[in-house]
Amino acid sequence: MMKAITVEPKTPGSARHEEMPEPDEREGSVLVEAVAVGVCGTDVEIVEGKYGWAPPGASRLVLGHESLGRVIDPGPRSSLKQGDLVVGIVRRPDPVPCPSCAVGEWDMCSNGQYTERGIKEIHGFMSERWRTEPEYVIKVDPSLGILGVLLEPMTVITKALEQVVMVGQRAFWEPKTVLVTGAGPIGLLAALRLSVRDLHVHVLDRAETGPKPDLVRDLGATYHTGSVLDLDFAPDIIVECTGVGAVIGDSIQKVKSGGIVCLTGVGAGGVASRAVADVAAAAVLKNNVIVGSVNANKRHWYRAGQNLARSDRKWLSRLITRREKPENFKKALERQPDDVKVIIQFSEI
Ligand code: BGC
Repeated sequence: MMKAITVEPKTPGSARHEEMPEPDEREGSVLVEAVAVGVCGTDVEIVEGKYGWAPPGASRLVLGHESLGRVIDPGPRSSLKQGDLVVGIVRRPDPVPCPSCAVGEWDMCSNGQYTERGIKEIHGFMSERWRTEPEYVIKVDPSLGILGVLLEPMTVITKALEQVVMVGQRAFWEPKTVLVTGAGPIGLLAALRLSVRDLHVHVLDRAETGPKPDLVRDLGATYHTGSVLDLDFAPDIIVECTGVGAVIGDSIQKVKSGGIVCLTGVGAGGVASRAVADVAAAAVLKNNVIVGSVNANKRHWYRAGQNLARSDRKWLSRLITRREKPENFKKALERQPDDVKVIIQFSEI
């Protein structure tokens, strides 16, 4: 038996830290000991009963999709070694499969029948031990240590920025300014990746104190609070990482002619401040693109691993602002004002 953090999806307040059987061998030939699991907004939504699906035939789901673990048994079919630090891939292709899943682009799944660890129909990584198929695990640079837990959010931003570049290639494109809305882990990782390019990077967030302003400034980027509409420039690119209706609406209005708004946040609600056809007319007349981006495929996981390993470790380590023990998972899920990334640590590194 082992301990895991589980939840009954769509049932608010049902999360608990409980005993459950060891991972089923059918979940994969690689056996991993959990080191840490990052907490993100999606986990909070699942625990609040707003999202998430248990595996077929089960009522509870093991939570967690931002993993970091140590290989206990690599099994017969992998080149991994005992002790390797690894991260599990989140999404699995749909079984049909749709054309995107058939070519390995499960992040672009077109029929919605994909599954996701810790989110949709497959157990996640918040258990003392977990198993994975060898094709769905990535070895991380051992010198990253605990920072390997940032790989999953890095994959999300790697895909999103790839989308932006691909959209940009539709015409002659010379972007100079980029705005990231939201200085959470995704926004800050976006700013990190954008700051290595020849761009003026701006980050906007509500926080006026805490670690976020300095994290942004230490990248050589400019930190803003207040409204997107009040900025004194029109960004060529906006990477929207809040999912907040008003910020999304303002971003679409503010982006420069020929600009791109990439939406990465998953929110709900918000009031339309402009009529839809007016928004569309402005987009038409300015050749603007609004592109949504979710998840990541193996190409993004590979690139994210390389980029994370090349990034400044000291700066990355400042993103992990709180570590909690599995039995205190409820505290990990409660957002505190100075949190950037909170992790649940299962074992020492
Ligand atoms: C995860 C993605 C996932 C998405 C939608 C995000 O929190 O990082 O891997 O595709 O939620 O379920």
